[in-house]
Amino acid sequence: MTPRRALLYHPGEAHVYARLVKAPRHAISLDVCSTPADASARIAEAEILYAWKFPSHLLAKARRLCWIQAMGAGVESFLIPELPSRVIITRATGMFGAWMAEYTLGWCAWVTQRMEAFREAQRQRVWRALDPAPLHGRTLAIVGLGEIGKTIARAGRALGMRVIGVSRRGGKVRGVAAVYRPSAMARALGQADFVAVVLPLTEETRGLIGEAELRAMKASAWLINIGRGPILDEMALIRALAERRIAGAILDVFDTEPLPPDHPLWTLPNAVITPHIAGPSVPSEIAPVFNDNLRRYLRGRRLRFVVDRRRGY
Ligand code: GLV
Repeated sequence: MTPRRALLYHPGEAHVYARLVKAPRHAISLDVCSTPADASARIAEAEILYAWKFPSHLLAKARRLCWIQAMGAGVESFLIPELPSRVIITRATGMFGAWMAEYTLGWCAWVTQRMEAFREAQRQRVWRALDPAPLHGRTLAIVGLGEIGKTIARAGRALGMRVIGVSRRGGKVRGVAAVYRPSAMARALGQADFVAVVLPLTEETRGLIGEAELRAMKASAWLINIGRGPILDEMALIRALAERRIAGAILDVFDTEPLPPDHPLWTLPNAVITPHIAGPSVPSEIAPVFNDNLRRYLRGRRLRFVVDRRRGY
């Protein structure tokens, strides 16, 4: 049997991922690449692509490709018209909810426990008794109630928050007090003390939260974006923050990443910038998904976590 050609691509940790691949040597021959130039030289031969931040423009050269296993949850960079329809895309899932729940609730607590103010007072050796605010009893609106959104919902409830949400279909979700459709976004956001955006980027979600939705939010509310930058209208968000129409924003994702040094978001005092780390891809957490799918692929069985290319996730 001729081994199947697989291309593993990761700009920083390709060899770490490669060491975790479990497959009989005769079954696959693995090309390990960490630069676009390397990948460009190999992609035409690859039947399988296992990748993180793969340069989209190289997919047009992927003549033999049959399956892409993404190392992350969001797959919008693979969903380009040049990718032949025979190519199956699978994503990594199951490991990000816990990370993103810790990020979301951690930053909510940063707000309510006034962590920044206490550290600043400490630096000045000042005993400043500010009252914390509660998270219990506050409303957390989760925009996007997939596996990640539901995990965040459970964490919010565990802290006594009232959790509401927005999903494509608006169907009931256990433990979520009310679920709205995107057309009722403003109604959901208007009730929230914290809004967490956890959507994938698709044609339907691009620009979903704009001026009108931000105006629906309470002046005391915080917005947390851990989905994708373009889901929010960044200019509308900057205006809302500068005019203090919302209390603040915790932002992990942006229209342009890395966020350019001269970007106005860096200097807004009520914006917190983190560099796209809310749901990290950890090789040891991603590898079992790939290995399981690889075993299935080699046996001609159905893969898990297949992306619906029309839906976009
Ligand atoms: C990270 O943003 C991912 O899509 O996994």
